[in-house]
Amino acid sequence: MRHFGSVAVAALLLGSSWTTAQSTNTTSCPTAPPADLNWYPPTKTVVNDLESVLNGTNIYGYIFNSSTTPLDVPYSTYNWCNMPHTRANEYIIPDPDFELRYVEVIHRHHKRTPYASNTFPQEQYPWLCNDESLYYYAAPSDNSAAQIVWNISQSPLNPFKPTGFPNSTCQFPQITAGGLLDSRQHGADVFSVYHDLLSFLPSTFDADRIFFRVTNNVITSQVAAQVAVGMYPSLDSHTVPVTVQPVNVDSLEPQYPCPASESLYSSYGVGSTDPAWLAHLTAPSTTQLFARLDALSGVNPSDTAWHAWFDHYFDNLSARLCHDKPLPCNSSVCVSDAMTESVFRRGIYEYSYIYRDNPHSLSASVASYGVWLAELAYNIRTAMAGTSNVVYRHNVAHDGSMSRLLSMLQVDVMVWPGMGSEVVFELWRRKSSGCWVVRVLWKGVVLRSSNPGLGALDMVPVGALLGYIDGLVGVNAREVPGLCAES
Ligand SMILES: *[C@@H]1O[C@H](CO)[C@@H](O)[C@H](O)[C@H]1NC(C)=O
Ligand SMILES: *[C@@H]1O[C@H](CO)[C@@H](O)[C@H](O)[C@H]1NC(C)=O
Ligand SMILES: *[C@@H]1O[C@H](CO)[C@@H](O)[C@H](O)[C@H]1NC(C)=O
Ligand SMILES: *[C@@H]1O[C@H](CO)[C@@H](O)[C@H](O)[C@H]1NC(C)=O
Ligand SMILES: *[C@@H]1O[C@H](CO)[C@@H](O)[C@H](O)[C@H]1NC(C)=O
Ligand SMILES: *[C@@H]1O[C@H](CO)[C@@H](O)[C@H](O)[C@H]1NC(C)=O
Ligand SMILES: *[C@@H]1O[C@H](CO)[C@@H](O)[C@H](O)[C@H]1NC(C)=O
Repeated sequence: MRHFGSVAVAALLLGSSWTTAQSTNTTSCPTAPPADLNWYPPTKTVVNDLESVLNGTNIYGYIFNSSTTPLDVPYSTYNWCNMPHTRANEYIIPDPDFELRYVEVIHRHHKRTPYASNTFPQEQYPWLCNDESLYYYAAPSDNSAAQIVWNISQSPLNPFKPTGFPNSTCQFPQITAGGLLDSRQHGADVFSVYHDLLSFLPSTFDADRIFFRVTNNVITSQVAAQVAVGMYPSLDSHTVPVTVQPVNVDSLEPQYPCPASESLYSSYGVGSTDPAWLAHLTAPSTTQLFARLDALSGVNPSDTAWHAWFDHYFDNLSARLCHDKPLPCNSSVCVSDAMTESVFRRGIYEYSYIYRDNPHSLSASVASYGVWLAELAYNIRTAMAGTSNVVYRHNVAHDGSMSRLLSMLQVDVMVWPGMGSEVVFELWRRKSSGCWVVRVLWKGVVLRSSNPGLGALDMVPVGALLGYIDGLVGVNAREVPGLCAES
């Protein structure tokens, strides 16, 4: 909790920067009360109730087997394969006295093949990716290059075979063809709101005003390429600049060194001996579940990567379901729907516990994701000051990015952020008063925080968000190196 010491200084700085940024009458603008930097627990729901997680028999109506959410359930329903995001159908247009001035979108990449580490030792069927192309090339200053496309093929002559899917033509991971189309639709949906409904984004792509950003993991570039053509179809086969920070300091993934955060997470989460963490892993229903899954999959029961948490089984099983592939079988039985649902309940519980339920989660996330949050605050400030041309930033990230962000915003109900899961920050200015407000959307609807100083982030004074960020991480992230240093 070391970072809570900086509140007063941060509040002072906040006061000065947000009043000078006002272009009209600031005295009438509601001022945000001093930021409340305390952690508040999430709402108790089935997701984080251990009894219903262990003894339950369903998966809360959440969807795991298709990118398409059926029309007879609300669009905001959790869909692991393709999470709900901002789109014109559900979007609520604010009062016309508000004008939109800046938008920053961040979302997880779309559905993909599993990571190699999550494939079972021996799969019975191939996973083919012949329905898409992976391009990799570089060009010198004359921009001349052949568009190299990878042909992933195993040599029959090579006596060494990769583990997992036999004869595969995929990279593990790569965004699948279905995930690429979901990414393109995501871009089209964002455009349907910020161009079609609000006339905010320009009709043709403008690289001075619209920024894309990705991580060092190539799957985020695969997604960005489709988001871009979803927004601007004329970008097809054109060059689009995309920001990426250097490897090992990237704040979006995040990748910058933060040993204090790692120690803190591992003191109460994955790998820890904290009884509150171990409760769900050592319960009889869980040990039985692991034993049955191990016997089916060939995973070694003493392989800690597969048993320290549900991440690997979750990724392995959900990737198949999202791509309409069969559940694994051994020679006698197959993984059942009940078993997959038991895995998914436990996996979602773990994300809620690691990022929200444990009281240390806020400090761990603030240290490891504070730089991105400070960058967001800076972007909002430059938009208010009118010192930047950029009106729209679009970040393609990972579940670890989204989880830490939701952790810092203290979302009221935490889940494992599924494929494409999105948070949007909108900066609005009231025309009549000149006052600045923000709205934050999660799954396409207003994000509700358990922190009473944030609450429902629906047209709240911009100072409420900026004061909170400054208090946690310091202006321009200056507290973060200290928060990350091992004490
Ligand atoms: C600012 O707003 C307040 C309250 O609405 C009003 O009394 C004051 O005259 C305004 N000042 C200016 C400079 O417009
Ligand atoms: C789960 O159900 C079993 C059998 O009905 C019961 O003994 C056990 O206490 C329950 N576990 C929890 C955590 O509620
Ligand atoms: C997905 O699962 C639900 C619930 O079991 C089922 O009703 C639906 O038909 C399945 N959809 C697909 C595409 O398999
Ligand atoms: C799931 O794990 C099994 C067992 O290791 C592996 O054979 C398979 O390739 C994995 N599948 C996916 C989709 O990860
Ligand atoms: C990819 O390589 C395989 C094996 O060498 C070959 O059979 C196949 O024709 C190649 N595909 C393309 C598109 O070149
Ligand atoms: C993989 O390829 C080899 C060599 O062509 C073939 O013998 C084998 O049957 C294939 N395995 C599967 C599961 O398709
Ligand atoms: C298949 O898995 C089941 C249940 O997980 C297990 O009981 C059985 O022994 C396994 N069969 C083989 C042949 O490994």
